Amino acid sequence: MTEQNTTETPRQFPIRRECPFSQPAAYAALRTDEPVARVTLPTGKQAWILTRYDDVRSVLADPSISADARHENLPALGLGEREAAAKSRPFIRTDPPEHTRYRRMLQAEFTVKRVKSMRPGIQSTVDRLIDEMEAAGPTADYVPAFANAVSTSTVLELAGVPTADLEFFRDVTRISGGRNSSEQEVTAALGNMFRMLGELVDRRTTDPGEDLLSKLVVNHLLTGEADRQEVLSTIGITIIAGRETTTNMIALGTLLLLERPELLAALRADPSRVPDTVEELLRVLSIADSIPLRVATRDMDVSGTRIPAGDGIIALLGAANTDPEVFGAPDEIDLSRAGRHHMAFGYGIHQCIGQNLARLELEIALGTIIRRLPDLRLAVPLAELDFKHDAATFGLESMPVDW
Ligand code: HEM
Repeated sequence: MTEQNTTETPRQFPIRRECPFSQPAAYAALRTDEPVARVTLPTGKQAWILTRYDDVRSVLADPSISADARHENLPALGLGEREAAAKSRPFIRTDPPEHTRYRRMLQAEFTVKRVKSMRPGIQSTVDRLIDEMEAAGPTADYVPAFANAVSTSTVLELAGVPTADLEFFRDVTRISGGRNSSEQEVTAALGNMFRMLGELVDRRTTDPGEDLLSKLVVNHLLTGEADRQEVLSTIGITIIAGRETTTNMIALGTLLLLERPELLAALRADPSRVPDTVEELLRVLSIADSIPLRVATRDMDVSGTRIPAGDGIIALLGAANTDPEVFGAPDEIDLSRAGRHHMAFGYGIHQCIGQNLARLELEIALGTIIRRLPDLRLAVPLAELDFKHDAATFGLESMPVDW
């Protein structure tokens, strides 16, 4: 068993990516030399990071691991993130039986059948946005004009929230997911969102529709099974988790394709390869690398290291998804590999509830943009792009393009 040397200052985490399309180079060295490594977080707290696929998977599947934000040591990377989550209790940061109850409320809305039924709506949103870009072009900022607009419209449509103000939700996420945001800033941003959603809850109580918010109100709030705050936090985390991640994947995925003309040409020649490409992009980019935050509730031995009960653990999805023991030549986009066992959507009881919807959005967004704007290119050098190194999920704020 490795004993922890308490006199040494552990390395700082998060570790920045050197290349936007690859995980930090340090992950490979850690995986070999120190697969369970002690780190210091921006909050000043310490935690363990895991870099091996098998360790990430077994820890995330372990029923004795906790994701409850009320644990002081939940290893949040944002300054006010844990404290704000301990108050607003998004179910991503809760444990069973509480977590199970919330998750069941949503499950019916995320079945394969329900998600499939969203295809025509997503396709028409994507087509409309490309029409608008073309009409205003031939230049655009791809993030607000396309990536954010596709993902936010889709999740708001599902939730039953008017889609008029896409930027409102972008701002909420920018603050609530920003690593430098204080507890007060996060709480205020979430408060604005809950106020806005609260008015909709009142309206759905008397005039329900077919959307997710209406279902939560009719089937859970009005039956007394859930209270108002629970409905608000469930719908709120679904919107936040669903829009920022997918925005980042659409933008960063497009950017990677633009940098690989041979891959782009292969996809144009055979669009049936788009779904496989989406899987590989999800794996290689792993934009939600450090989203799974956990606390050990008992002493655990992981790859020969003792993690004491009460310590924080970050199960690094990007590190797991580029473990060469599982994915040979891990940084390569290889459409021939059966990529579905990657963990870009996490693993275990918190595994992404929106993954089928995310796949569908990516498939439609990337497939359509490749077909309709064959001359799409970056309008500035790659080195001038501003990547979100300090956000909960990795991506871009802005991506000037022309065609
Ligand atoms: C490419 C896009 C996406 C990625 C990479 C992603 C990634 C993830 C990951 C890694 C988790 C697990 C977190 C953990 O274990 O702590 C998660 C959970 C979650 N995701 Fe996603 N997600 C995406 C899209 C979506 C969409 C479109 C929605 C909904 C519309 C969504 C809603 C959620 C929710 C509600 C949870 C919490 C589940 C739970 O705790 O049981 N996500 N996501």
